[in-house]
Amino acid sequence: MVDPTQSSQWRILEEHCSSIQETSLQELLQDNARVESLSFKAADLFIDFSKQLITSETIDLFNALADHTNLEMQIDALFTGQIINRSENRPALHTALRMPPSSSVKVADQDIIPLIRSVQEKAAEFAVKVRTKEWLGVTGQPITSVVNIGIGGSHLGPYMAYKALRPFCLSGIDCRFISNIDPADLDANLCSLDPATTLFILNSKSFTTSETLANAQAAVGWVEKALGKNSNVLEKHFVAVTANSEKAETFGFQPNNIFSTWDWIGGRFSVCSPASLAVMIAVGPENFKTILDGCQKMDDHFRTSNLTANVPALMGLIGVWNRNFLGFSNHAVIPYSKDFEHFPTYLEQLEMESNGKHVDREGNKVTLETGPILLGGVGTDAQHSFFQLLHQGTTVVPVDFIAFCEPSLASNNLSIDLIHRQHETLLANCFAQSKALAIGTETDKGNTSSDGNRPSTTILGDRLDPFTLGQLIALYEHKVFTMGVLWEINSFDQWGVELGKSLVDDVASDLTGTDTNKAHDSSTTSLIARYRKRRNL
Ligand code: F6P
Repeated sequence: MVDPTQSSQWRILEEHCSSIQETSLQELLQDNARVESLSFKAADLFIDFSKQLITSETIDLFNALADHTNLEMQIDALFTGQIINRSENRPALHTALRMPPSSSVKVADQDIIPLIRSVQEKAAEFAVKVRTKEWLGVTGQPITSVVNIGIGGSHLGPYMAYKALRPFCLSGIDCRFISNIDPADLDANLCSLDPATTLFILNSKSFTTSETLANAQAAVGWVEKALGKNSNVLEKHFVAVTANSEKAETFGFQPNNIFSTWDWIGGRFSVCSPASLAVMIAVGPENFKTILDGCQKMDDHFRTSNLTANVPALMGLIGVWNRNFLGFSNHAVIPYSKDFEHFPTYLEQLEMESNGKHVDREGNKVTLETGPILLGGVGTDAQHSFFQLLHQGTTVVPVDFIAFCEPSLASNNLSIDLIHRQHETLLANCFAQSKALAIGTETDKGNTSSDGNRPSTTILGDRLDPFTLGQLIALYEHKVFTMGVLWEINSFDQWGVELGKSLVDDVASDLTGTDTNKAHDSSTTSLIARYRKRRNL
């Protein structure tokens, strides 16, 4: 594999970077034509890159780098199901989840589009039954609470989407999400629920994740304690979403209560899959389909746009520019939308589990910095917590600001004038923050001055609805993919999480067991001893 930093395209970008560093955003933004040339439409989103430390020339040079790394060919490989996740020998086909029914994508000679459609139809039928109270619990009562039990990609995407689509959720069905092995998670969520009207979704692609299986066992125990122990209870109150139906059946799930996902859908890329069954129940199959349509619109943009106007690709290139050329090791995502509060947490997994890699696609140590640390928070709250560092800290953190022109409303309890006034103030805060970061202010006292010249992108949507949500999901999925291609790493595996998992059993048995002779390092041994002493073990 060729080292990307050794290419002439990379070196030319390095020289160009030196010239960019001689100027500043204050200076660059004096040119009114700049906004025109560095703002783009992607599907229905408006994206303003003019507050990034780039020029139109940078985009041309990005284009050359993208050509050198065969980005267009790799995009084609992604959509056509080639084995791009080489360490696990499989394709990454999240885009197939939203392709039109007339498409065809083959995995091991089988067309997967009819497969996807039949599971989507099964999930939609089930969601309608729950929503219309046709699906009843064992006592004959309809379902009023849906509890998703899953972690990582089987939690963060569905949770983010459920919260984002608050105004579209059916009242009368409360969705909850249990992810953590911490019993407080079970306790906090189950304490106010009635087992007779609760439906659990066991959401685990592998059906081996220890936290999820432990929480599922606890939930079964909780339901059986109240409703009795028989197969009807399991049938009426538990369904599973998994790629491992054999294990799900062994657990006790009826085949009809199992919704398939597949090993070619990565957990963090599975928000459009049946992993979001809880979201489908909450917002209804039609709204869910609209999320997929939004994704598909962005997929089309990514697949067909010229690289000089291809927004997910440009976002990825700017990510690499900020990380490797300008040397910024962090990145912040700030939605100015309370309902979109969980988007940064979802992106933490999407970006950092995908691109936090130290070897290239062939397993050799990388020679360049890869994925930055992603942090986030919701505006305006974040302004009153960590924005101080963004404005005056010694670390420059490029920001993505995400805002919507229309407010998100589920009720008409408040006066429309008040809503518009407050929403305008919300947007004013968003625009003022990116302006302050870019322009700064010079005063005669150091503590009140801000240097400015801190880059950001602003993404403006019409309204946080299913269609826009889909576009944003696909936008970031493709941005992450682009960065992986440019760094020549595999964005679809996550071997780094395995070591910690493999150590748990030994530590757990030493915490409480009688055979405590496992060879740990001195710090771990001392922590275990301290716990045992506290519990008189
Ligand atoms: O431990 C990491 C991980 O494998 C994630 O990639 C995944 O989203 C999560 O665990 C949950 O996995 P599963 O859906 O198989 O339970």
